[in-house]
Amino acid sequence: MAVIVQAPVEGASKVEIYQQLKRDVLAVLEGEPDRVAQMATIVCLCVQAFPNWFWTGFYVVDRVKKAAGIDELVVGPYSGTLGCLRIAFGRGVCGAAAATRTTQIVEDVHAFPDHIACDSRSSSEIVVPVFDKAGEVIAVFDVDSEQFSTFDETDRDGLEAIMQAIFAA
Ligand code: SME
Repeated sequence: MAVIVQAPVEGASKVEIYQQLKRDVLAVLEGEPDRVAQMATIVCLCVQAFPNWFWTGFYVVDRVKKAAGIDELVVGPYSGTLGCLRIAFGRGVCGAAAATRTTQIVEDVHAFPDHIACDSRSSSEIVVPVFDKAGEVIAVFDVDSEQFSTFDETDRDGLEAIMQAIFAA
């Protein structure tokens, strides 16, 4: 694997950071089909690109429970403080993203009615649903920040594009 990941450029805009991040993710993961390797690598490169992110990681759809008719997420590769292990579809911000199949941007998690507080330092978050080629939700990608209102449409576009390119292409 002869890929050199670029260091974030000083003063780069968020759009530019996402463009570089997507290039790096695609380059490093070229030809790699394993989902754990894909997810762990995305988490690693995201945290290097955005060092201010507090918790960054995947909750994956539990396939065994799904076969039994239960929709539940179980924690996957992540970086940050200890995360909750399991989240039912529809619960919290992650469960809302999985159940509605749409990205959730929450400016103040304390004001979100059903927020699951794994760590009280988390103040805002974005959760992006992750689809496979068939359009099935296979996971969600969750990023938490200690600051309020950290995430916007640029994050939504940037993260959705990366998830699409790796898991649904
Ligand atoms: N904030 C999430 C729970 C997961 S953690 O924060 C790591 C939620 O409410 O869905």
